[in-house]
Amino acid sequence: MKSAIRNPQSAIDLSVNIAGVELKNPLMTASGTCGYADEYADFVDLRALGAFVTKSITLSPRAGNPYPRAVETRAGMLNAIGLANVGLEAFLAEKVPLLERLDIPVFVNVAGTTVDDYIAVAEAMEDVAVVRGCELNISCPNVQAGGIQFGVDPQAVETITRQIKAVCRTKPLIVKLSPNVSDIAATARAAVAGGADALSLINTFIAMAINVETRRPMLANGAGGLSGPAIRPIAVYMVHRVYTEVAQPAGIPIIGMGGIQYARDAIEFLLAGATGLAIGTALFVDPRCLVEIRQGLTDYLARHGKKSVRDIIGTLDTSTSDP
Ligand SMILES: Cc1cc2nc3c(=O)[nH]c(=O)nc-3n(C[C@H](O)[C@H](O)[C@H](O)COP(=O)(O)O)c2cc1C
Repeated sequence: MKSAIRNPQSAIDLSVNIAGVELKNPLMTASGTCGYADEYADFVDLRALGAFVTKSITLSPRAGNPYPRAVETRAGMLNAIGLANVGLEAFLAEKVPLLERLDIPVFVNVAGTTVDDYIAVAEAMEDVAVVRGCELNISCPNVQAGGIQFGVDPQAVETITRQIKAVCRTKPLIVKLSPNVSDIAATARAAVAGGADALSLINTFIAMAINVETRRPMLANGAGGLSGPAIRPIAVYMVHRVYTEVAQPAGIPIIGMGGIQYARDAIEFLLAGATGLAIGTALFVDPRCLVEIRQGLTDYLARHGKKSVRDIIGTLDTSTSDP
């Protein structure tokens, strides 16, 4: 208590609850940008995070798309990794022991090309203690079969959510929404109708970059998914829309993502209605940004006289715009 008086920052509570999972702070990795926690271990202590989100896991191993499959763009990055991953069996045998050492809650991102694939992976997670929930990736723009096709039609979103939820008996199901739709509130509503315990948004935007000298696409796949600062204002808008129209009335949390690089970006998402915050592309620029964002968030709360990060979630003042 004494130290709390001396340092008001130490009294600030960053903890949040995502569908029953207690996180010591809202920060987590965005799926696919930090592998299985082994890739950044030398650069940053991932235990500073509230939770770790794995790369998408599919039933069988996937080599992914041909190279080049990532390029830098002016304010972000374009990738067409194509869900390259070790597959369920190797994940359980080789990666789970690494995740256990992290000592923070883990969410496993689940993907597939058929509904049965999704079900097999999600069902297997029921028996893995370190895994506290599944994030359903129905929004990957970079695979031929599966991926985004499940995530753009509200009826399909509701059906697959219900099918996966039936096997997630003891752990929450987070449904990750695609921004590549005309009405993200409709797909959010469908996920909630199917039984989603939380929503995460946004995945990447389908986009293209062209090498004008060769007149060929810069990615071997042709198109890919755009992420990073370029998409942040759209992501903030979508989080706010889904929060006010769907998540808040349904009483479920949002994990917001899309271009978070600095504390002020993270705060925008919180004000817009996100409870959790995932950081992806910024990790490629500087993995230590996680620690800086956490400190910046604490400073902001202290400066605004808030005791808890929960006091600012969804508190956007829409009565007037910033002059
Ligand atoms: C290289 C790369 C790989 C990704 N892989 C996955 C993935 O396997 N599963 C998934 O759901 N999202 C994946 N994403 C999307 C991110 O999780 C996130 O939704 C998106 O990049 C927006 O956040 P950001 O701007 O902070 O990167 C990937 C993004 C990048 C840049």
